[in-house]
Amino acid sequence: MSADEYAASILPQLTLEEKVKLLAGADMWRTNAIPRVGISQIKTSDGPVGVRGGQFTDGVTAASLPSGVSLASTWDPGMMDEISKILITECRSKSIDVLLGPTVCIPRTPLGGRNFEAYSEDPFLSGKLAARYIKKIQEAGIATCPKHYAANDQEHRRFFVDANISERALREIHTQPFEIAIRESNPWSLMTAYNKVNGEYCSANKHLLRDILREEWGWDGVAMSDWFGTNTVVPSVEVGLDLEMPGPVKRRGKHLIEAHKQGLISEARIDECATRMLKLLHRVGKSTIPDWKEPEEKAVDLPEHREIMRRCAAEGIVLLKNDQDILPLKLCQGMRIAVIGPNAGKAVQSGGGSSDLVPHYRTTPFNAIKQAVGESGIEAEVSHAPGMLSHRYLPLMDPSVMRNPVTGESGWALSFWANMDHEGDAIYEESRKSSILVCYDTLPDSLTTGERYSYRGRTILTPKTTGNHSFSLSSCGPGRLLLDGKVILDIPRRWWSPKSPLFMSYGSPEERVQIQLEAGKEYELVLDSVSREPEPYEFSFTDDLLREEIQDGGRIGFFEENTKDLMKEAVELAEKSDLVIMVVGKDREWESETSDMVSMNLPGESDTLISNVALVNKNTVVVNQTGSPIAMPWLEQVQGVIQAWYQGQEHANALTDVLLGQVNPCGKLPITFPRIYEQNPSSLDYPGYNDRVVYGEGIFAGYRWWDRLHIEPLFPFGFGRSYSTFEYSAVRVSSNQLRFSENGSGIIEVQVDVTNTSSVAGKEIVQFYISPKTAPRLSRPTRELKGWDKVLVQPGETVTASTTLDWVSVAYWDDKRHEWVVDGGATFEVIAAKHSRDLGVAVEFTVDSPAADIKAGRFTVVA
Ligand code: BGC
Repeated sequence: MSADEYAASILPQLTLEEKVKLLAGADMWRTNAIPRVGISQIKTSDGPVGVRGGQFTDGVTAASLPSGVSLASTWDPGMMDEISKILITECRSKSIDVLLGPTVCIPRTPLGGRNFEAYSEDPFLSGKLAARYIKKIQEAGIATCPKHYAANDQEHRRFFVDANISERALREIHTQPFEIAIRESNPWSLMTAYNKVNGEYCSANKHLLRDILREEWGWDGVAMSDWFGTNTVVPSVEVGLDLEMPGPVKRRGKHLIEAHKQGLISEARIDECATRMLKLLHRVGKSTIPDWKEPEEKAVDLPEHREIMRRCAAEGIVLLKNDQDILPLKLCQGMRIAVIGPNAGKAVQSGGGSSDLVPHYRTTPFNAIKQAVGESGIEAEVSHAPGMLSHRYLPLMDPSVMRNPVTGESGWALSFWANMDHEGDAIYEESRKSSILVCYDTLPDSLTTGERYSYRGRTILTPKTTGNHSFSLSSCGPGRLLLDGKVILDIPRRWWSPKSPLFMSYGSPEERVQIQLEAGKEYELVLDSVSREPEPYEFSFTDDLLREEIQDGGRIGFFEENTKDLMKEAVELAEKSDLVIMVVGKDREWESETSDMVSMNLPGESDTLISNVALVNKNTVVVNQTGSPIAMPWLEQVQGVIQAWYQGQEHANALTDVLLGQVNPCGKLPITFPRIYEQNPSSLDYPGYNDRVVYGEGIFAGYRWWDRLHIEPLFPFGFGRSYSTFEYSAVRVSSNQLRFSENGSGIIEVQVDVTNTSSVAGKEIVQFYISPKTAPRLSRPTRELKGWDKVLVQPGETVTASTTLDWVSVAYWDDKRHEWVVDGGATFEVIAAKHSRDLGVAVEFTVDSPAADIKAGRFTVVA
């Protein structure tokens, strides 16, 4: 039976109440079961770069994959297939039916806190890679959920901001990755964005959801809201938002039934949404198991997965500078290598927020480099100095200094009361591994009713050193931190502070205190807290409603006094070393969902540290771990620069492979690196005024902007070096005429010869851009990426790279005609180039010229 047949046969058997039940989550990650007709729960999980499972913090370990921008830097659809294999296993081990990803919005500002999750500033590259990810995962019967539809490209005021976007930019840029993914691989679900687009919340945006998604693209998957992002009762159902997430239900349920009784919403509209939910249930195999019992989540850490992640991470690394061929490292006997920087001794595997998870294992660049050098058989000395402290918040407590007084293991004991005063017996107890005590998805039902509750966390702290140590506290509701019964930090009121991204913006700004403690002595540390006070709001069936989230908790930081001059120590180490690898960057605290970054500069004293080190050692290579472009004021001072993104649990091994030449780097930038912040296309209108952002750059997003204004970026889109060198020649097209066909399927093959002019085998990512040669009817970008090929070329060998161009490659959106249009008779150049600013080699082709306007599939060819 097909999904359509199943839905058509079950829908008439459901009562209105049952249909409505399908349209909202049951708990944080699951939908409702209706055992009477065989329907069991669907379980969702973030996504997109791993499968975290059903617990937001301290859950079962999971494979931590390279982040979206790192995956995109591979430009490798085959790699997406391999990565998907891991995701499928991970989904199965955690019983996940819907993987919440990929993230395909177009990064607009270099400060976007969530840029690292997204693929690229180019909609074609984003859409194509997303399509591949979706296809592979769904072949295994697991749904994907591209997000966040649409224009969720800033975290600042993300629940309120209105993105004002011209229709043409909406079609050609911001909905384009979704359109490509839907056309090529039909995701079974999709997540709406928190923000508004052109005045309407995305969760109730008729133009986005009904006009474009359903009517124009003919998509029949489930549109679900982002978490707590269903802002209305009636309008969201009216436009076809099928699923309110998460549960317990807030907007729908009894409210929707009442709205129906009052004639505010028809049963037909409810049926449309319920039908799509039924189809999803059928597609993921949850339509005929009335008594499904969810198995316990498992950690599956396989050697073959490690191998894929390591390869994938290495291929995503982008070599930006390599003067005097400083890389790959030429190890020699007695060599002294210094691995310096705040990220050198840390396991920075991901940015922060909902995509984060507990990895199966952690590696650090220093350890990985030291180990690999040790295994090389060459006696070289590898030393480390952090050079600075770079934490944004006081670090979470080190596992070795805390002990759960209940279990005796490292961690905290956490108890809950169904009253605000910790009165009587606790109703629920948990053990936590870390000192971020998030109260979210592990709460029992009795604590998710909206009534306030209290909780208490307890641990035994044993400092390693004697000194004036620092404690910090951020809490969502009122919270007090007590040391041996004495209050040391007190946060008396409820917070909502955009300045504090902790707890997805629900946490207070961090408060700190210093206290003299003794090494080896045991101290009792207690957090006493009460859940947040809900914001009162007026209920309406038809208007936008205030966002209500149940996230609560407290975060306890602890840091033992540092008395060393870290910068001095690092510079001294650099001075006596033959070579310095500096590992700098941001991390899950600096670069995270819920808050944008404040600057393109690296945190704290990073820039000074790099300059100071480079001054004393000219053999300095900088490795940068961020998901967004950074300023590089020290670029001229250093010999090498590697952009290493966030690369999941294998990041340090992959980096070492590239540094030592086990892997020849081949990644290319999927985003432009501006020379200064003000060069970027959003700089005139970001983060907006009065919660409104005008996308003034229009269709000139990403590199299209730099091209249009003739500005030289620091590193252009598509740029990346290799240990090999390549030359392109003999670019050719199968026909210099793009012919019209009834279904709009005319194609041209483009080929170019790529010669490896070096002595090392390497992979080259050849990019094919089109550029108009005749004046277009409407203004168009100078260049647009319309194809690419990644080829392996042996030394001295020549191989052919190719792509296909079709009507989509030359079409644009005409917002007066309100349709996709192709200029008949137009001539284009197709350029095979190494990056968006490379002159490359070009050949021309012309589009068929009809006598009068004609329809060719989805396009109109204008005479
Ligand atoms: C994020 C989504 C995520 C959801 C569930 C939201 O805060 O925006 O991307 O899937 O939480 O964790």
